[in-house]
Amino acid sequence: GNKVSIGLLGLGVVGSGIMKLIESQQKELVHQLDCSVEVKSVLVRDLDKARNVNVQQTFLTTDPTDVLEDPEIDVIVEVMGGIEEAYQYTLEAFKAKKHVVTANKDLIALHGTELEETAREHKCDYYYEASVAGGIPILRGITDGLAADKIEKVMGIVNGTTNYILTKMTNEGMTYEAALKEAQDLGFAESDPTADVEGLDAARKMAILGRLAFSTDVALSEVEVNGIKDLELADLEYGEKFGYTMKLIGSAECEDGQIEVSVQPTLLSNDHPLAAVKNEYNAVYVYGKAVGETMFYGPGAGSLPTATAIVSDLITVIKNMRLGVNGNSSLKPRISATLRSSEQ
Ligand code: NAP
Ligand code: HSE
Repeated sequence: GNKVSIGLLGLGVVGSGIMKLIESQQKELVHQLDCSVEVKSVLVRDLDKARNVNVQQTFLTTDPTDVLEDPEIDVIVEVMGGIEEAYQYTLEAFKAKKHVVTANKDLIALHGTELEETAREHKCDYYYEASVAGGIPILRGITDGLAADKIEKVMGIVNGTTNYILTKMTNEGMTYEAALKEAQDLGFAESDPTADVEGLDAARKMAILGRLAFSTDVALSEVEVNGIKDLELADLEYGEKFGYTMKLIGSAECEDGQIEVSVQPTLLSNDHPLAAVKNEYNAVYVYGKAVGETMFYGPGAGSLPTATAIVSDLITVIKNMRLGVNGNSSLKPRISATLRSSEQ
C-alpha cells in the first residue's frame, strides 16, 4: 500500500524524537520509500502525562495488545527499555509477523542471539543500530562497511552519560552529582543511572560490538567492568596536571580465538584522539586486519541522534518489505572468531 503503519512501544526521550523525526522527514521518507510512514499507536505507562510531541493523530494506549495485535501494524519500534516486558513484546511481535526495531541494549546484550533466531524463524527483520553509540552507525559499520575484513579489536567511548560527567568534572570542576543531574535532565542517562555510572551500560554495548565483530556470543558475566562512580575530582585534576584525561574506555579484542572484553576508567594522554571526545559524544575505533585503523565519532545519546538510528533502521526494514526480502535475518554473519584460525 502507500502507507506503512508503525506501532511504538514507549514515548519518552527516544520515542518522542522518533515522532518528531518521522514528521519532519516525511517528504524524504515518501521519496525514498514511495509510501508514507505513520505512527499509528503508542504504548505508554501513563495516559495523563504531558507529551512534548504532536499526538493528535496517534492512539495512545496502556494495553500492549492494542499495538501488538493490530493487523494493520507492520513494524514495532521498541523504545520502552527494561528487559522482561520488552522481551515478551518482542517475541509476540515476531509471532504476529511484525518486524522489530529497537534501541534496547539491555535486551540485546542478554537475548540478542536468541531473538535474532526467533526473528529468522518468523521471517521478520530485527534491527538495533540505536542500541550502541546513539546516532553513530557503528553496527552497520561493522556488519556492512567492514564485512570484507577480519576485525581484530573494537575500542572506545560508548557511554554518553559518563563521558558527559567526566567532561564537566574535568573542564568545569563540576561535582559528580551536579554533572549526573545535568546528564539526566538532558535525557542521556538510563531511567536508573546506576547502569551508566557503574559501567554496565558500556559493558552491554561492548558485548554487542564484540558479538558482531567476532560472531561469538559474549557473556556479560565475562566482561570485566569498572565504572566511574568512585572517581574523585582530585583524581581527575591530578591526571590533568600531568597532561592526562580520564575516560571510560570499553574494549573488545580477539586473539587466537579468545575474546576479551572490558570496561575501565583510563587515563589517556591529552593528545590521544579519544581525550578530545567531549560531553555525550562517543567514539569507537575498529581495527581490521586489512583496513587498519578506523574511527567512528558522533553523538552517543540524546533524543534526535538516537531517533536517527531508529528511523534509518525503519527505512531499511521498509525497503526490505518492498523488495520482499528478509534483511539481516536471512544473512550469515562473518565466520566466528572461535572457528577461524589466527593465520587467516
Ligand atoms: P524514557 O524517556 O524513560 O522513556 C520510556 C518510555 O517507555 C516512556 O514513554 C514510558 O511511558 C514507556 N514505558 C516504559 N516502561 C513501560 C511499560 N512497562 N509499559 C508501557 N510503557 C512503558 O527512556 P528513553 O531514554 O527514551 O529510552 C528508551 C530506550 O532507548 C531504552 O532502552 C534506552 O536504553 C534506549 N536508549 C536511550 C538513549 C537516550 O539517549 N535516552 C539512547 C540510546 C538508547 P510513560 O511516558 O507513560 O512513562
Ligand atoms: N544512557 C546511555 C548513554 C544512552 O548515556 O550512553 C545511550 O545508549
